[in-house]
Amino acid sequence: MARLPIIAGNWKMYKTRGEAAELAKTLVSAAGAVSNVEVVLCPTYTSLETVAQAIGGSRIKLGAQNCHFEEQGAFTGEISVPMLKEIGCAYVIIGHSERRQYYAETDENINKKALALYKHGLTPIICVGETLAQRQANKTAEVVTAQLRGCLSGLPADKAAASVIAYEPVWAIGTGVVATKEQAQEAHAIIRALVAEMFSKDVADKIRIQYGGSVKPDNVSELMAEPDIDGALVGGASLKADSFTAIVKF
Ligand code: PGA
Repeated sequence: MARLPIIAGNWKMYKTRGEAAELAKTLVSAAGAVSNVEVVLCPTYTSLETVAQAIGGSRIKLGAQNCHFEEQGAFTGEISVPMLKEIGCAYVIIGHSERRQYYAETDENINKKALALYKHGLTPIICVGETLAQRQANKTAEVVTAQLRGCLSGLPADKAAASVIAYEPVWAIGTGVVATKEQAQEAHAIIRALVAEMFSKDVADKIRIQYGGSVKPDNVSELMAEPDIDGALVGGASLKADSFTAIVKF
């Protein structure tokens, strides 16, 4: 089953609007017409509109880094899905390990966000992954399985099939320590088998699973060659036009 690879840049809390516009424009010239890979840029909330304008007319898509699950309400500091949709977001990263770690996000919470995104026609990029201690205790499969069961709960099969999962081992994020292609493939195969069990083989064949954690131009090709790796969620290397372009053109 051919799945269109998806490479997303998670800009985290980097770049002012001016800097974001400059990077987005450079990426449009370098990779705006790429069609064999879906490219998504996820800037900060304040740069979403700027980046939306810069990528307009190109094939590059817009994503946000988080959302609230309610449509509106007294939630100071939060942003709702309809607000992101209005700006032109197609994707939203949910459950990133930094959000789980620093903002106490739970699988239940992430599940509510996934359901809210689907209600409005946006696609979640659902992040899961184990810590170093969990890997060393041989708990990778257990942890990732529990996270996914929680996050995907109650999703209709067609929505699950359209979702993007990002397997991001916490010990590989921003550390320069990338998972080996064997470690990544093993985790991705566990995820795909779980999706088959929860939904169906057809859903598992369609769902796209990104790897994230110190993806760089020099390791992306071998990761992408693995059968269950369908893309990358890129942090540090997405902040520079040359490294992100090299990753997109793996
Ligand atoms: P990194 O971040 O590429 O800098 O390791 C990945 C991520 O957090 O999504």
